[in-house]
Amino acid sequence: MSDRVFIFDTTLRDGEQSPGASMNTEEKVRLAGRLEDLGVDVIEAGFPAASEGDFEAVKAVCARVSRPVVAGLARTSKADIDRAWAAVSGAKRPRIHTFIATSDIHLEHKLRMTRDQVLQATVDAVKYAKSLTDDVEFSAEDGSRSDPDFLCKVFSAAIAAGATTVNLPDTVGYAVPGEFADLMRYVLSHTENIHQAVLSVHCHNDLGLATANTLEAVRAGARQVEVTVNGIGERAGNTALEEVVMAFKTRPTFYDVVTGIDTTRIFPTSRMVRMITGMPVQPNKAVVGANAFAHEAGIHQDGMLKNPMTYEIMRPETVGLTESRMVLGKHSGRHALKSHLEKMGYKLSPEELSTLFSRFKDLADKKKNVLDEDLEALVAEGILRTADAYSLDYLNVAAGNTVIPMATVRMKIHGRLVQGAEFGNGPIDAAYNTIAKLTGTKSELLRFSISAISGGTDAQGEVTVRLKENGLVALGKGVDPDIITASVLAYIHGLNRLEYLKNHPALVAESI
Ligand code: KIV
Ligand code: ZN
Repeated sequence: MSDRVFIFDTTLRDGEQSPGASMNTEEKVRLAGRLEDLGVDVIEAGFPAASEGDFEAVKAVCARVSRPVVAGLARTSKADIDRAWAAVSGAKRPRIHTFIATSDIHLEHKLRMTRDQVLQATVDAVKYAKSLTDDVEFSAEDGSRSDPDFLCKVFSAAIAAGATTVNLPDTVGYAVPGEFADLMRYVLSHTENIHQAVLSVHCHNDLGLATANTLEAVRAGARQVEVTVNGIGERAGNTALEEVVMAFKTRPTFYDVVTGIDTTRIFPTSRMVRMITGMPVQPNKAVVGANAFAHEAGIHQDGMLKNPMTYEIMRPETVGLTESRMVLGKHSGRHALKSHLEKMGYKLSPEELSTLFSRFKDLADKKKNVLDEDLEALVAEGILRTADAYSLDYLNVAAGNTVIPMATVRMKIHGRLVQGAEFGNGPIDAAYNTIAKLTGTKSELLRFSISAISGGTDAQGEVTVRLKENGLVALGKGVDPDIITASVLAYIHGLNRLEYLKNHPALVAESI
């Protein structure tokens, strides 16, 4: 029988450390529900000692999911472990994940500790975590650049102290596949008690090798893979869940391992991560990119018509990529909307449903076919958001090749209606100038991206902005068939998030 590889999803922790990908508690909880349906074995929900916001989010995820293990990250200090335990103890299956660096570079320049001190810190941390819960994971940060014998010594001590999983991270994405597999084999053969624990692998993608390194590690004997949806994460990202899972599924005789992932849920989960984080997926991204299953060349199309196996190694349906159906129209009622959303995995409260229903009706008036992706976008933009200080009431822009672009905006600021008009370099610039003036904000626009949610000229435009003010950074998203309105909604959403962060300084996470 094929061995089982455990899927440890760290989208909510390492993934969230991507620049600009921060998620609020509600967003994390919804995504955790999706990850549970996807079939992941472990959800790393956050780093509870990093901020009050992370702590609350981890607690909320524990209350939301029941099948997967929920892990909270902690450095080796007692304070971090206490905080992690306070956050995950409400989970049905809690795990404390503690880590310390083992490479000489980190010991000398970051930790300023000797190898003996790191060994002692590992043992103390794992023993303490074990006194709180049975399920303890230990990670040797920068493991791939550590002295292999010291790494084995630390793993052996961690297992003797009670670790049930030991994880070997390629923290800086430096490893290359053959060498990394050799290191895994070395660890397996030189750590005497290694068979009392699950050996795990955690890779970063700085050289574009995260998936290759992870797959080679599994061939060498690792049985837990730490991954994120769409490969989001620090710098160039983490190993992409979808790539590893589909490699196992597409090449079963080569890898001879199985996972608990329901692959038909991969694409909807990828879309949700994109919506929530506002991080676009490159069109040529393996498995979940918009072009991943598009055959452009005539010779390929001819082959595909004769037999899809000529050029297609995976069926699009296997990853949940089905033709978008016209799901609802303007005559659809609240009940139809509710039950369709439930099929898509969204269980909304009556108030959320009311908000969404009126947005849905507005959209159905403007757009004949309301597709699943449109509904996803409405949920992401309309429900998954913080309480609003600012909202749009009226927008009018003058644009064209013979007019000076101008925008008139009326908006509610803390419940009070205000209006104004400004010029700009284009209609979006004019609208943004007006909003900045009305709200008295001075944010810097770090990123502006616009894309169409589905095909066709009536597709909704999805705009993502990244704003910075007084050292705080927030992401804003807006969706509307009118791209200028979508741009304005994204800007106002971003300003609302900045306002929220200003009033909740404890939610601003300190980085690891
Ligand atoms: O990349 C890394 O080393 C990590 C550890 C905390 C597991 O994310
Ligand atoms: Zn990492």
